[in-house]
Amino acid sequence: MSAAEPSLRARELLGQTQVAPSILSADFGRLREQVREVLAAGARVIHVDVMDGHFVPPITVGPNVVAALAETVREAGGMIEAHLMIERPERTAADYVRAGADSVTIHAEATPHLARAVGLIHESGASAGVAINPGTPPEALAEVAGEIELALCMTVNPGWGGQPFIRSSLQKLPRLRTVTGESVAIEVDGGIDTATAPACRQAGASVFVAGSAIFGEPDPAAAYVAIAGSLSA
Ligand code: DX5
Ligand code: ZN
Repeated sequence: MSAAEPSLRARELLGQTQVAPSILSADFGRLREQVREVLAAGARVIHVDVMDGHFVPPITVGPNVVAALAETVREAGGMIEAHLMIERPERTAADYVRAGADSVTIHAEATPHLARAVGLIHESGASAGVAINPGTPPEALAEVAGEIELALCMTVNPGWGGQPFIRSSLQKLPRLRTVTGESVAIEVDGGIDTATAPACRQAGASVFVAGSAIFGEPDPAAAYVAIAGSLSA
């Protein structure tokens, strides 16, 4: 596989409306099975939350979990987005690409070398996303907006699933679009469900991460379909 392939797949998929199940709320004892269920229901972007115990208090998973899922996801025509809630992501971002991530999203707050970190992600062959926390203004992305494929507006403070959606995000999303221009996908993450996803779409988002609203439900496939359906209504 050439180095360019992950990036091409990501560009194509992230250019479309996507509901991206976050495995943070999945049953890790049945992880591959649960991911298969949402892929079979139509999901094409699987969101893997990486936390280091520093940038955010919890510790979650590393490249080995991306590697464990990569083949299953690609066989279904999907992609993995690694959302790195870690300090100094430029040090390890390429490890996630080598493990099978097609897109890597890092936080603007996590490094003084944001532009270099974005460049390293591209050099490693993946698409690059940059996330901003609720307390960070959209303008933090201004200098890298021309370089990235995705801008992630956190709609909760990062670190935990199951938190309530921050309503003021709906005013922030149009400001983010002004900073990014039209060619960057805008993603929302945190408190996304059948009510908040359509509101975010109205405000300019096209990629919708949902953790507890999918894997916290008894039937994750049906929950995925319900959120996707709320966007086509
Ligand atoms: C939170 C993570 C999210 C998380 C969202 O820091 O980045 O991806 O899984 O969980 P929900 O959808 O439950 O708010
Ligand atoms: Zn996330």
